[in-house]
Amino acid sequence: MDKNAIYPGTFDPLTNGHLDIIKRSLKIFDKITVLLALNTQKKTLFTLEERINQIKNVLISENIQDKVIVDCFDGLLVNYCRENDINIIIRGLRPLVDFEYEFEMAMANRELNHNIETIFILTDQNYFYLRSSLIKDVIKLGGDISNKIPPSIKDEVIKKIKTF
Ligand code: PNS
Repeated sequence: MDKNAIYPGTFDPLTNGHLDIIKRSLKIFDKITVLLALNTQKKTLFTLEERINQIKNVLISENIQDKVIVDCFDGLLVNYCRENDINIIIRGLRPLVDFEYEFEMAMANRELNHNIETIFILTDQNYFYLRSSLIKDVIKLGGDISNKIPPSIKDEVIKKIKTF
């Protein structure tokens, strides 16, 4: 039987750091679901449709589209896991900054469903400081950080950030 896992997030936009986690996850799991959460706490720059298309384009250009499902959900992550019979949540971990936030989420999810495990994968050191909001800030202020965005979506991502 296939080993499946869920990689949830906001992906606003998908960065090379996220892509790195997806590729590393595929060394462990047969199939990954990249799950876009409609996070009510966060206002996104890119629409849901734009983010789904961006992720799909990147997967195709990396030739991993057959191993990765892209989906979205509105509600509790543990409910999506239960409905789709998946009990592993993957999260990327950067040194220091992520720990408290990730610890809280993993504990909340465990409390909600004891059958679900969260596993953390260390991001490549090139992306230790990388997060979507930093990318948006730097591009908006005229900095060049284009090597942190997957090439297949780079132009459209930069264009939209600059116009907003
Ligand atoms: O990329 P992000 O924004 O850090 O991802 C956070 C995300 C979407 C994984 C988290 O907010 C989430 O799981 N939201 C769904 C609602 C939920 O299940 N909340 C309880 C667990 S914290």
